[in-house]
Amino acid sequence: MALHLVDHPLAAHLLADLRDRDTTPDTFRRRARDLTMALVFEATRAIRTRPVSVETPLETTEGRRIDQAIAAVPVLRAGLGMLEPVTLMFPEVRVGYIGLERNEETAIARIYYRKLPPLDDAFCLCLDPMLATGGSAAQAIHYMKEAGAKSVTMLAIVATPEGVAHLGREHPDVDVFTASLDRGLNDRKYILPGLGDFGDRLYGTF
Ligand code: PRP
Ligand code: URA
Repeated sequence: MALHLVDHPLAAHLLADLRDRDTTPDTFRRRARDLTMALVFEATRAIRTRPVSVETPLETTEGRRIDQAIAAVPVLRAGLGMLEPVTLMFPEVRVGYIGLERNEETAIARIYYRKLPPLDDAFCLCLDPMLATGGSAAQAIHYMKEAGAKSVTMLAIVATPEGVAHLGREHPDVDVFTASLDRGLNDRKYILPGLGDFGDRLYGTF
């Protein structure tokens, strides 16, 4: 498994706002959207393109157009905060949903919803901003592969060494793109320094 750190200064600037405890849900949603856009640019570097001929106002030139279906699967709830930039950049995207909720005591995620389009021919993105223990991402990717995904690219705003290692053991073929590899987990399996509960901050459900 390869870990790709998107360490652009703009990404760091947006992440600082996401981490800030005083950031309101409205700003939090906008920063999450903008930072996801940076991750999507990097994560789709390997998408298939084909050469095309383009008429500029002055002459004919060569260009490239995307030549592969794209699918995105946000993990509910928090992954929804990463969906809009994908639908904006890829209007034809097929969107699937996986609902997972961590048990507050065990931090083990339980699935409560799953609706996936065919994934076998698509460039598949799994969207979940917090890769903490890695259990949720590993489960989500398992279901995506069950739906036919040949390979999955994972987008997480913040990741931990534990989460990356867990995902690497369960899905060694997956690439992870993140804006930060944080220090680790606390005893409740929250990311340190992290940014708190992403879903709660996104939707104001503290
Ligand atoms: C959060 C987050 C991830 C998961 C990460 O979801 O959005 O899905 O925890 O933790 P893990 O790597 O240890 O599995 P949560 O269960 O809090 O649900 P929510 O998104 O509905 O708030
Ligand atoms: N889920 C979150 O939203 N935040 C964490 O720190 C860990 C899991």
